[in-house]
Amino acid sequence: MREDAPPPQITVLDAGGQYCHLIARRVRQLGVYAEVRPSDATAETLTGRKGIIISGGPNSVYEPGSPSVDKALFDLGAGVLGICYGQQLMAYLLNGSVRKGDKGEYGHATLQVSVRDGLFQGLGADEPVWMSHRDQVEKPPPGFDVLASTDTCAIAAIGDPARRLYGVQFHPEVVHTPRGMQVLENFLFSICECRKDWDPRGRLDLLEEKIRETTGARNVFFFVSGGVDSSVAYRLCLRALGPERVRGAYVDTGLMREAETEFVRDSLGVEIVDAGAQFLDALQGVWDPEQKRHIIGEQFVRVQETVLQSGHYLDGDWILGQGTIYPDTIESGGTAQADLIKTHHNRVAGIQKLIESNRIIEPLTSFYKDEVREIGRELGLPDELLDRHPFPGPALAIRLLCAEQTAPVEKLPEGWMIPVQTVGVQGDSRTYRAVLVLDNPGWNEEMFARATVTVNRLQNINRVVAQSGAHAPIQRMSVVAAGLTPERLHRLRRADAIVRRLSHEAGFDSKVWQFPVILIPCGTLDRPDSVVLRPIHSVDGMTAQAVKMEEPLRSRMTSELLNAEGLCAVFHDLTHKPPATIEWE
Ligand code: XMP
Repeated sequence: MREDAPPPQITVLDAGGQYCHLIARRVRQLGVYAEVRPSDATAETLTGRKGIIISGGPNSVYEPGSPSVDKALFDLGAGVLGICYGQQLMAYLLNGSVRKGDKGEYGHATLQVSVRDGLFQGLGADEPVWMSHRDQVEKPPPGFDVLASTDTCAIAAIGDPARRLYGVQFHPEVVHTPRGMQVLENFLFSICECRKDWDPRGRLDLLEEKIRETTGARNVFFFVSGGVDSSVAYRLCLRALGPERVRGAYVDTGLMREAETEFVRDSLGVEIVDAGAQFLDALQGVWDPEQKRHIIGEQFVRVQETVLQSGHYLDGDWILGQGTIYPDTIESGGTAQADLIKTHHNRVAGIQKLIESNRIIEPLTSFYKDEVREIGRELGLPDELLDRHPFPGPALAIRLLCAEQTAPVEKLPEGWMIPVQTVGVQGDSRTYRAVLVLDNPGWNEEMFARATVTVNRLQNINRVVAQSGAHAPIQRMSVVAAGLTPERLHRLRRADAIVRRLSHEAGFDSKVWQFPVILIPCGTLDRPDSVVLRPIHSVDGMTAQAVKMEEPLRSRMTSELLNAEGLCAVFHDLTHKPPATIEWE
């Protein structure tokens, strides 16, 4: 339990599903504080919970090593809800049975509800639900009734009301199950008898009090990134302690988006550390993606050390403020945010020292991102800052591809191969491979499926793009040796600003989770670079779906980009993650 959170009435046990944090967020949206714990948490440590939810997960209960739960938790007297794999696990552990499905059920299904009270109170006889499973329960455990079914899943929900144990095969937590919140509400309030104890709004006074208590007489120093979390944490401390006792610094690496530094200065009022020349110098002549990341990490360390030293922030009367949020603190089932990023920035020695001596304050560790946004709104931070997409620390540098050598594009049966190296995740490891421009994409949903099949079939590529417009036919383009120069950085910055403006005007930015814009050194003599658009949907960045850009936005964006200096073509990335990653490096 986190210090500033109430004792949890609900624990979500993480069985490895990407939706486990989503379940906890939904419970909190219903006004009940929920925590996430690894699935193997012992029943003893869960005593006192009113309800326990076992999440979905990718495994099969019969596979050796698949996640399990402590069987004794079913006897704690708490309500238990197993979702998807959680239901199967419950059936398996309580002497029912599960069978391997041969065909699986993915997507929309109609739930025929046979028992419309308790868990399903207020639901209709037929309810649309979202399914994603292969295995299914074959025989409910003794004492359980079947509560609902679908055409392909005879046992889609089970329950033993006397013991308050329930399982559902569908996912009530996703938006594709329209009445899912009703099911969760029934579980929380009718079955577990929870009371409302959580609302991130209206907590400012409490949070400020806590900040004053933790800091005592000391002052707080922040490195802010311009992202939501560090900005909200900074402003919260500022409000709690006053401007005399809180300082913030923002490192301008010279790799920022257009107008970003000014925006951060104006909306947060922090000190700007101009380190642009230092970063660009160090990146001169470097084309290797991993080396770029490494150099950027190293430079960050240097600048941060200098700031800490020169501001005397390592002295005893300062502590370090950080914007750590709830998912960053959870190490379970691979869902910790920490696993999500590539090469981490090196840990600054000074920061390490502050952490080790416990001179650190993290006021947001109980909250999810959407809750942090609520707090930010109450603090009066602008929506433009609070609703921004996640943005990587190394900034535009990892969206500006470089090439060591000049090389022509190459014809393959499926399309044209562009010999730049982009990163992918195939199996457990990362790959650096070339890009394929798909012939005749057709601009329909089917092109995404073709992209997946093509990446899986071809050994030497890990991304597939469609060409959205160009000044020259693809066979006349080539990859030209290029580095991270101010000229190319300017080109990418302009392209990124055009895309951001148009997608904001069209309301498209609120429909996607992230929208990287990438510059690749592929084009003709007078227009040596091209731009790739990469709008994606995601829940947490671990997996992502490429998103189709609708007309007229795509054409409009393409023609504006082609009017910009130096740009030869505009491509649209069609590859999901996996097999590609969200970023290109
Ligand atoms: P990938 O490219 O691995 O990205 O699919 C997943 C998410 O992580 C972000 N990302 C980073 N964030 N520092 C960051 O702060 C980094 O070095 C970094 N690399 C990737 C990326 O933008 C996406 O949201």
